[in-house]
Amino acid sequence: MKTRLHTVGIPTEDDPIFIEAARLLKAGELVAFPTETVYGLGADACNPDAVAKIFEAKNRPNDNPLIVHISDVSQVNQFAMRMSPYIMVLAEAFWPGPLTIVVKAHERVKNTVCRGLETVALRIPDHPIALTLIRKAKMGLAAPSANLSGKPSPTKALHVYQDMSGRIPLILDGGSCRVGIESTVLDLSQDAPCVLRPGVITAKDIERILGCPVHQASDDLAKTRSPGTRYRHYSPEAQVYLVSPAVSKIAFQRLLDYLEQKKLMYVGKRDVPANLRTFPNNELTEQLYAILRQSDEEGLDAVVIDGLEEEGVAQPLMDRLLKASSQYFGNDNDLLKFLRSKLS
Ligand code: TXA
Ligand code: MG
Repeated sequence: MKTRLHTVGIPTEDDPIFIEAARLLKAGELVAFPTETVYGLGADACNPDAVAKIFEAKNRPNDNPLIVHISDVSQVNQFAMRMSPYIMVLAEAFWPGPLTIVVKAHERVKNTVCRGLETVALRIPDHPIALTLIRKAKMGLAAPSANLSGKPSPTKALHVYQDMSGRIPLILDGGSCRVGIESTVLDLSQDAPCVLRPGVITAKDIERILGCPVHQASDDLAKTRSPGTRYRHYSPEAQVYLVSPAVSKIAFQRLLDYLEQKKLMYVGKRDVPANLRTFPNNELTEQLYAILRQSDEEGLDAVVIDGLEEEGVAQPLMDRLLKASSQYFGNDNDLLKFLRSKLS
């Protein structure tokens, strides 16, 4: 299958590319599109054959459910069993935006996106191309991140092309994704609201709106309730060494000495030798996945990344960094122990 990559300017529903994209989706085909978080790989959420194609194209484990993307709160009823007051309040505060809400599923999607769960995940993305596509196709769009399973999520159309070329007919190119990491997944299907996947909308932000405690699921609970968190994620071929701000200058220098012969990239703000290729980490949320993909393209041996204090929006970023990293050095001891094991 030939994959067409089409650049979209200002999206309008009568643009021929949206007519074509909607036709493909209605015919049960896949269309990749940008959202504010990462690119999605869309299919008609109510069509079992179309949804099956997503799993095939991505090599996605069969039990991993998909988020349904809608363009208006009035569509919630088509996919959820009922409209809860919580959804209304959260939609008012955060939709369109990077918050996915898990609620009891409508029968209509039980044999498509839910993958054996009784719940469905819903969100309204904050991106004009995504919204125009949903409106034009007049359907809920089942859409996981448009990467091959196990690869970093795509934040540019080119990333989607690298993974999906030959597998899908159309990619809508809307440039780089503004947020850069995936949406917060909030489970409202149980008694207490609980964050299953952290994102830039934090548990605290949600607490402020709901006026009740919102928990961050432990890793174990997230694994039970949100199958996607069970799988290894975002790991490039290079070894990724994540270094806490608590690691001293001297210990850090030892790590660089150890890696001296390696093809290396450093992401952070420490003083490093001028010949070491360095990326700043001030816009790391937007850049992280692109950096990890670049490390693969360049065949690097190692990427050294400065960790962040786990507060506020740094928390979802640290969650992704920990998943991508092969080693986390929380302090000098961790790092020196690692070096001893390698050098002995
Ligand atoms: O920002 C995002 O959420 C992006 C864009 C494209 O919207 N999508 C995305 O989809 O990250 P995906 O499939 O890569 O990740 C969805 C996560 C997975 O961890 C999945 O297990 C979880 O959401 N999920 C989906 N449906 C669920 C459900 N009913 N209950 C619990 N977790 C669910
Ligand atoms: Mg994904």
